[in-house]
Amino acid sequence: MILFETIKETREYSVSKRKNGLSIGFIPTMGALHEGHLSLAIRARAENDIVICSIFVNPIQFNNPEDLKKYPRTLDQDLKMLELAGCDLVFLPSVDEMYPEEIHKDYDFGTLGGVMEGAFRPGHFNGVAIVVHKLFEITLPHRAYFGEKDYQQLAIVKELVKIENLPVEIIPCPISREQDGVAMSSRNARLTPEMRNAAPFIFHILKQARKMAQDHTAEQIEEFVKLKFSGHLLLDLEYFTIASGHDLQAVSGKISPGDMGFIAVFAGEIRLIDNIQLI
Ligand code: PAJ
Repeated sequence: MILFETIKETREYSVSKRKNGLSIGFIPTMGALHEGHLSLAIRARAENDIVICSIFVNPIQFNNPEDLKKYPRTLDQDLKMLELAGCDLVFLPSVDEMYPEEIHKDYDFGTLGGVMEGAFRPGHFNGVAIVVHKLFEITLPHRAYFGEKDYQQLAIVKELVKIENLPVEIIPCPISREQDGVAMSSRNARLTPEMRNAAPFIFHILKQARKMAQDHTAEQIEEFVKLKFSGHLLLDLEYFTIASGHDLQAVSGKISPGDMGFIAVFAGEIRLIDNIQLI
């Protein structure tokens, strides 16, 4: 497995593979890899001649400086995992390599960007879009793999590809969960044992919401979820929203096929997100 820290080497690698008619699958990550990330790499391995993964903790997508400072970094273990998954190249740029000068780009994702994570994490998706666009220009993938765990991010990246006319196919991948239902996340490593024990409650409530969706309205389900969390001593609900999985706009009344429940919860200072398809 090749490791490159420069844009130049990585781009030249991709250009030469493309010239030879080889397909490139790309998985952007911020490291602290877990089985969720690996499921993307394994899928990319099965569908492409070349698999490129990037590890870059992107400072401009963090709206909370503490979160950036404390973001877990486990490079040695990450590289071992990627090697086992059959990754060909890992791109490991420094912040200076990616952002030699200040960036002034302001994407407009319309209604997609203003709800849920967009509303609670101002500037976050602009930072994601800037780095993903840049990474695509460097790695030149035919296909890029994104997890449905970050469902709104996936929608934003699809929109970015449309806005910028990028020649890449975005492949959505299902959420990987721990045995107790907790959605895998790099941030789980920062949960105290007490918070980690509490975390399965999130998916437990999402599954109850899915059951209710058969014969309850969006408002009734949202009320139920709020009530359940208001009685919880450790987990603090930031939002639970029922929205269409297509355009992420809030749903009212009866639940239709493709509607989803989206949730963000604070477990102490750690923010966890999850989602579920309701029907
Ligand atoms: P990161 O949180 O490292 O996630 C990298 C990719 O792994 C994303 O596409 C994410 O949705 C996916 N992923 C994370 N947990 C998952 C899980 N439990 N199941 C399935 N997929 C999962 O998302 C980012 O990094 C960054 O925003 C990035 C796109 C790299 C831009 O900086």
